[in-house]
Amino acid sequence: MQIAGRNFLVTGAASGMGLATAERLLAAGANVTLVDQNPTLSQTVEGLGEKALAFTGNVSSESDMRTAVDLAARGGELHGVVHCAGVADLDRLLDDDGHPASLDRYRQVLDINLVGTFNVMRLAAAIMRKNLPQGVDGERGVIINVSSICAYEGTVGTCGYAASKGGVIAMTLPAARELGDYGIRVMSVAPGTFGTPMLADKVADRVQASAQATPFPRRLGQVEDFALLAEQIIVNVMFNGEDIRLDGGLRLRY
Ligand SMILES: NC(=O)c1ccc[n+]([C@@H]2O[C@H](COP(=O)([O-])OP(=O)(O)OC[C@H]3O[C@@H](n4cnc5c(N)ncnc54)[C@H](O)[C@@H]3O)[C@@H](O)[C@H]2O)c1
Repeated sequence: MQIAGRNFLVTGAASGMGLATAERLLAAGANVTLVDQNPTLSQTVEGLGEKALAFTGNVSSESDMRTAVDLAARGGELHGVVHCAGVADLDRLLDDDGHPASLDRYRQVLDINLVGTFNVMRLAAAIMRKNLPQGVDGERGVIINVSSICAYEGTVGTCGYAASKGGVIAMTLPAARELGDYGIRVMSVAPGTFGTPMLADKVADRVQASAQATPFPRRLGQVEDFALLAEQIIVNVMFNGEDIRLDGGLRLRY
C-alpha cells in the first residue's frame, strides 16, 4: 500500500506508539486522523499540520468509532488503520490477604483492549470494503492492531492484560482470512517493553530489568521502532494474517 495521499486512522494517538506512527505517516505524505480519549490530543494535533485531524473518543464506543472512521475517510476512502489505543493493568488473582481480584477491573481491560480492537476493525473494514482496488494485487486496505509479548509470556498479575492481547493475536488470522476476500490485510504487532507513558509510572523496576534482559539491542523499545514497523507492514503487501514480535529477542521471565 502506498502511503502518500492515502487516508489513515491511528488510535491511541495522543501518546507513545500511536503518536509516533501518526507523525511518521504524516511525514510520508498521508492524511491522518488521530483518535484518543485523552483531551490533550487536540493540542498535540495542532502542531502536526493540515493533513492531521483530531477526534477525541473511546475506542470501545460504537458511536465514537463510527464518527472516527467516517472522519478518517474524509468523505471518500479509508486505506489504513493503526490501532494503538490500549491500557496496561497489573492485578493479581488474589491479593496479599487472599481476596479475589476485581471482576469489574478485568472486564474493563477486556473492553478497551479486546472489544475496542474488534470495534475499530469491523467499522474500518466496512468502509475499506468499498474502496477502489489499488495496484496489481487489487489491495483495498490494511489494518494493524497492537498485541503484546505479554500474550506469549504473561507475567504475574497480567491475567486481564495478557488475555486481552492474546485475544488480539487470536483475531488476526481469522480477520485476515475473511477480509482477504475484499483485498484488506490484517496484521498485529506484539511490542516488547517500550519506554512510553503507559509503563513509565507503573512498574519502573521491571521496565529497567526488561532493558537489561533484552539480547540486542540492550535497551527498551522506542516508539520510532514501532512506527517504522507499521510503515513497513503498510508498504509490503505480503505481510498478512500474522503477529510480529518487536522485542529485540526479549522473553519476559517474571
Ligand atoms: N509500552 C509498552 O511496553 C507496550 C508493550 C506491549 C504492548 N503495548 C501496547 O501498545 C499500545 C500503545 O501503547 P503505548 O505504550 O504507546 O502507551 P501510551 O499510554 O503512550 O498510549 C496509549 C494511548 O491509548 C489511549 N487510550 C487508552 N484507552 C483508550 C480508549 N478506551 N479509547 C481511546 N484511547 C484510549 C491513551 O489515552 C493513550 O494516549 C497499547 O495497546 C499497549 O497495550 C505497549
